[in-house]
Amino acid sequence: MNTLAPILVTGNLPASVLNTLKKEFQVEYHGEDRPMPRPKLLHSIRNKVGLLSMITDDIDGELLDHAPGLVMIANMAVGYNNIDLDTATGRGILVSNTPGVLTEATADLAFALILGVARRIAEEDRMVREGRFRFWAPFLFLGREVSGKTLGIIGMGRIGKAVARRAQGFQMPILYSGRSPLDGAVEKELNARCVPLNDLLRESDFVSLYIPLSADTRHFISKKELALMKPTAFLVNTSRGPVVDEKALLGALQNGTIAGAGIDVYENEPAITPGLEKLDQVLLLPHVGSATLETRTRMAAMAAENLLAGLRGGTPPNLLNPKVLR
Ligand code: GLV
Repeated sequence: MNTLAPILVTGNLPASVLNTLKKEFQVEYHGEDRPMPRPKLLHSIRNKVGLLSMITDDIDGELLDHAPGLVMIANMAVGYNNIDLDTATGRGILVSNTPGVLTEATADLAFALILGVARRIAEEDRMVREGRFRFWAPFLFLGREVSGKTLGIIGMGRIGKAVARRAQGFQMPILYSGRSPLDGAVEKELNARCVPLNDLLRESDFVSLYIPLSADTRHFISKKELALMKPTAFLVNTSRGPVVDEKALLGALQNGTIAGAGIDVYENEPAITPGLEKLDQVLLLPHVGSATLETRTRMAAMAAENLLAGLRGGTPPNLLNPKVLR
């Protein structure tokens, strides 16, 4: 590989990571906290061999058509639903993600949402800021207890398990559903029981989601699933917005089908379904699950390490499509 092969980086990186890339590549750098505009992306990718992409970049067939020399895409995220993996694989392009390094930060944020919706943190903060806090009162801002309540975990992967570990500190029994049950010892340690989805929905006080977005999981939670939840239960989503039918969620919140929701991701991000912002029982965050300085630094370094490995002709440590190498 030519030592100054051209690569494109579509989002802000820590200086140390950028400098590592600049030693080996000619870097076109979109160092901004806003997505690269699509026409610019289509133009800039033309002569590149490598792409360090953000989840806001839509890497579809059209983009790949504009990138005849592309060898590797390193996505700076664990989720890669923004990339048409089959098309990239068909064209022999290596694709990697950043698993593991964001597990704890994302689980922390999921737990912040659980506590935040149950204890009405955002509403309370608004009240104090607006000068409306006049007296302590016995029934002021009554929330719901978290300790001892049943936590539903849909998708018991890395992040689901990290949330389950946190829940142990709150003595929360766990119901989970997912493709592969945990082994008995781990279930015991986490106080977790694998149950059919409908049982999880019926029995949990908090239903939380840790599944990737794919054609199979789009609208995984819709009107029917929300109707099974307890009217006192909360939904927490830190995975991907389209996993929940957002209009159905709005309806369920407006009708009191469920008690509230903590949401970090949206179906048509960054737009939200109009009406959600009017509801006090929802906590709305701007897709910040992995947004700590430490974690984003590790994600950037990991994406760069993958890109370097792939473009040097090696195997990227977090390669998603090893088929390309065979
Ligand atoms: C963020 O949403 C990620 O998938 O890493």
